[in-house]
Amino acid sequence: MSLIPKAELHLHIEGTLEPELAFALAERNGVELPYAGTEALRRAYLFSDLQSFLDLYYGLMVVLRTADDFTELADAYLTRAAAQGVRHAEIFFDPQAHTERGVPIGTVVEGLAHALDRAEERHGVSTRLIMCFLRDRSAESAMETLDAAKPYLHHITGVGLDSAETGHPPSKFREVYAAAESLGLRKVAHAGEEGPPAYVRQALDVLGVERIDHGLRSMEDPELVERLVREQVPLTLCPLSNVRLRAVDTLEEHPLRAMMDAGLLVTVNSDDPAYFGGYVGDTFHAVREALGLNHEQLRELALNSFRAAFLDQDEARRERCLAEVAGYDFDRE
Ligand code: ADE
Ligand code: ZN
Repeated sequence: MSLIPKAELHLHIEGTLEPELAFALAERNGVELPYAGTEALRRAYLFSDLQSFLDLYYGLMVVLRTADDFTELADAYLTRAAAQGVRHAEIFFDPQAHTERGVPIGTVVEGLAHALDRAEERHGVSTRLIMCFLRDRSAESAMETLDAAKPYLHHITGVGLDSAETGHPPSKFREVYAAAESLGLRKVAHAGEEGPPAYVRQALDVLGVERIDHGLRSMEDPELVERLVREQVPLTLCPLSNVRLRAVDTLEEHPLRAMMDAGLLVTVNSDDPAYFGGYVGDTFHAVREALGLNHEQLRELALNSFRAAFLDQDEARRERCLAEVAGYDFDRE
């Protein structure tokens, strides 16, 4: 595990639901899970692609019902993240995955916000909340979700786009992103995880996003790479996720290092750590081993995470974190 101070910018809070917590919440809420126990559940974590993961991921969310459940979920993540060197976390959540099951958006946001609001004091972690639209649902559903979130926007920094990518281009969400921008929300989107480089371009040109989540397949399009380098668009890579969801065959073959060498502004993140074999400190360690990254490359990844963070309202914190990374002594690890 690597303890270098870092920001985590690509993390789905529902993807931090560990089997032990899932079973504890199932019991508390009187929900029956279709697995014999935590080990049986873990054995089901063999994915062939993004969709096969999403089916299990959405299925397990039945255990999340009350505001306290969401608070507990976020507290557990923040405790683990802080122990792995995270100083700032920008946390995604999927409101439609809950509202469709009859859990009101206010229950979700207020439950999460309760944990996030005390995270700096309890864990030394500053936080932002990013509401993601499910791209395999309709644009109308996304707009209804944005409307439903209006009473809670003081807790929400930005919007994102996630779920099954293929066949669901960013352009489908042009209007809802325009509406989000007019509400003062920041904009990011998953693109180029399984989808083509054209989806990365659309996310930039049609949605006007400030960061691309994943962006892995950008490497297939040299002109796009040149643009991403020129504009220094941050890419929030998730290498362990890419291996588990079979976007790359092995970690050793992950293009992270080639992307850094090309001059792209890349960051390393955990995506859904309960499912993909590690939190973000574990991920730093794994890429270091698999790709032979040296200390300065790891330092660059950590610096990038703070450069790309939505810390504009707290530049003093960004500067403190950057200075901490610059002075970090790897020999203490
Ligand atoms: N939701 C949770 N994890 C995701 C991922 N890796 N891609 C798209 N949607 C997601
Ligand atoms: Zn993701």
